[in-house]
Amino acid sequence: MAIDHNSSPNGLTTIFWDNDSVKLIDQTKLPEKLQTITCFTYLDVAESIKRLAIRGAPAIGVAAAMGLALCAVKSTSSTKAKIMDELKSAYKILLKTRPTAINLKWGLDVVLEEAEKYESVEDIKKFAVACAVRMSQEDIAINRKLGRFGSDLIKDGDVVMTHCNAGALATVSYGTALGVIRSVKESGKKISVIATETRPVMQGSRLTAFELVHDEIDVSLVPDTAVGYLMANKMIDKVIVGADRILKSGHVYNKIGTYQVALLSKSHGIPFYVAAPLSTFDLCSETSDITIEERSVEEVTKIGDKRIAPAGVRIFNPAFDLTPPELIAGIITEKGVIVPPYEKNVKALFNSP
Ligand code: MRU
Repeated sequence: MAIDHNSSPNGLTTIFWDNDSVKLIDQTKLPEKLQTITCFTYLDVAESIKRLAIRGAPAIGVAAAMGLALCAVKSTSSTKAKIMDELKSAYKILLKTRPTAINLKWGLDVVLEEAEKYESVEDIKKFAVACAVRMSQEDIAINRKLGRFGSDLIKDGDVVMTHCNAGALATVSYGTALGVIRSVKESGKKISVIATETRPVMQGSRLTAFELVHDEIDVSLVPDTAVGYLMANKMIDKVIVGADRILKSGHVYNKIGTYQVALLSKSHGIPFYVAAPLSTFDLCSETSDITIEERSVEEVTKIGDKRIAPAGVRIFNPAFDLTPPELIAGIITEKGVIVPPYEKNVKALFNSP
């Protein structure tokens, strides 16, 4: 893996294909350094996903797709059977990197299915890369569409709260929840954002605040513990968050803390929206099938190198939680906004042309 200064096109392109390598912004270095790393193998990509150098559901979907394309392009196999075996073992390794966001599996499935279509090793390589690059371009177009649907829900002057980072840095660019906010701004309406810090990994302060300040969008940063206070004091008009997985029932998995923001929104009569592409929907699973990622205890016991909890204390560090459909006012997608009842309306949206 190689490190350079940020070379992403126009500042905040999270991941892109470059000359048989994958370049991505190393998000562990933000907000101090906007630095790009280069992955030369799919194992480099897998490690980058695991250590959160790249994170956010749509971004890890594209990273996994590009990882598989890297495996194809670097292969020395001479037959279809051999290269497909390599791709299948890379698929398993990439799939294991993080368990909760469905986009990871989606990205891998799309590239593997594309590769299966061709007979020659050269074509498999060429079309696997083309497919992954196309997915990265489509991600931006999808976020822009979704952003425009979401923008219609926001009034001039609204204050919108968001949790975690569902922005350019969680996608290839533009963002989902923050895509809605960018779209509102582009429409000429005035908007202010309240970003929660999002303990323990601080995606809100390190990433959301960073990218909104970078794009000169009005943003205030608050501790996670201030959400109830702000809502009770009528300082929030709407909430928009992203998602890592959405079930056909409308149950939404997203960053830990989302559920309590949704509960507080409900009790203060504040509309709580989820913005996500269709690739975040999992129409096959039930809540009992989903694995909530548990992350290292150091995320909780330390801030940087400083220990903030006693040695020996038991730690529980789930990275995601589940928000039930009755707390959600609408799910904003690139095909429109889904409103309750979700079971019926998710189905209708997927079946519509
Ligand atoms: O652990 P992370 O940083 O990958 O978690 C990210 C989130 O929970 C985001 O809100 C979600 O992926 C939506 S991103 C458009």
